[in-house]
Amino acid sequence: MQSIPDTSNKRILEVGCGTGAFTKEILSKLDAGDQFHIVELCPNFCDAVETNLLQSFRKEHPGIEVVLHNAPIEEAGLEGEFDAIICGLPFNNFPLELVQDLFDVMFKHLRHGGELAYFEYLGMRTFKKVFGFPSIRKETKQRTIDINNRYQNKKGEQQTVWCNLPSCRVVRLKGC
Ligand SMILES: C[S@@+](CC[C@H](N)C(=O)[O-])C[C@H]1O[C@@H](n2cnc3c(N)ncnc32)[C@H](O)[C@@H]1O
Repeated sequence: MQSIPDTSNKRILEVGCGTGAFTKEILSKLDAGDQFHIVELCPNFCDAVETNLLQSFRKEHPGIEVVLHNAPIEEAGLEGEFDAIICGLPFNNFPLELVQDLFDVMFKHLRHGGELAYFEYLGMRTFKKVFGFPSIRKETKQRTIDINNRYQNKKGEQQTVWCNLPSCRVVRLKGC
């Protein structure tokens, strides 16, 4: 959650909240005047996050606006720019073209100097590169090039979280 700035009136976006593990963390970093938008495709996850986290949070923090959009990020109709985007999408399971489209949409909503953070489980691409069919190996190679290009162009920084199971790397990209 290093990407969330310690400023007032910040706007934060979470993409793909799932059951809300990151959502809970993000809520704990918000102050009066902040806005938090969440986009999640699956209606069941939306219901769970709304019931288990957001309803009570809104009652306890009337000065913080929290909006949950039950839609894919590509169609959520978000307005304006965000200071930080926390993304839980499992990019390695998506076709490369979709990954590129999703990043385009998210960067459109990231303010200059803001941060987009996402994570990737360690070893997934290496496993596919070694044990995959030739078509998977080729696709994984292209995926790695795409990831590395984005990392370079968007002034990436990364951190390995060994204590997570499975271990993952958290990548932070800059809006520019
Ligand atoms: C790996 S899970 C997120 C895990 C989450 N951090 C948690 O702790 O539960 C990815 C989530 O992204 C959602 N998702 C997938 N594609 C999406 C899209 N295009 N827009 C918004 N959400 C999407 C899925 O429904 C799923 O809940």
